Amino acid sequence: MIQFTQEAMSRVERLKRQYPTKDACLLPVLHIAQREFGHISPEVMEYVAGLVGVSPARVYGVATFYTMYNRKPVGTYHVQVCTNISCHLEGSPKMLDTLRSVLGIEEDQTTPDKMFTLSTVECLGACGFGPVVQINDDYYEQVTEQGIKDIIKGLRSK
Ligand code: FES
Repeated sequence: MIQFTQEAMSRVERLKRQYPTKDACLLPVLHIAQREFGHISPEVMEYVAGLVGVSPARVYGVATFYTMYNRKPVGTYHVQVCTNISCHLEGSPKMLDTLRSVLGIEEDQTTPDKMFTLSTVECLGACGFGPVVQINDDYYEQVTEQGIKDIIKGLRSK
């Protein structure tokens, strides 16, 4: 049986008071759930549904619509490369190739040491600054091939 920490529960209670409807606080509660449990599994969806007071089907619909919710476990660093048109024109295919080579994995795979997961996403909302790569909560814009190598190297040495 999964359970939020006391701190996460307090945040959820605050959100429920702040938001006008149960539906409205579902997104932030899912964010908390992802931080707590690492990904949004069917068990987590049921738990969140109970906490927020909506149906598990509603949680499933929301969690599967937005790419920011991971439905499978990811590594310590989730590397997401935008492959939509603006970033594509600015070199995201090359960026993806570099990351495949540096990390030794393909999209939707995690390195054996569970440190990195590589994903592609449709748009990260920074279309004027491509190619854009998101690693956990950090955005890297107009990132170069050498730049991404340095970033990965830096994360490996943490
Ligand atoms: S197209 Fe890459 S951020 Fe929008």
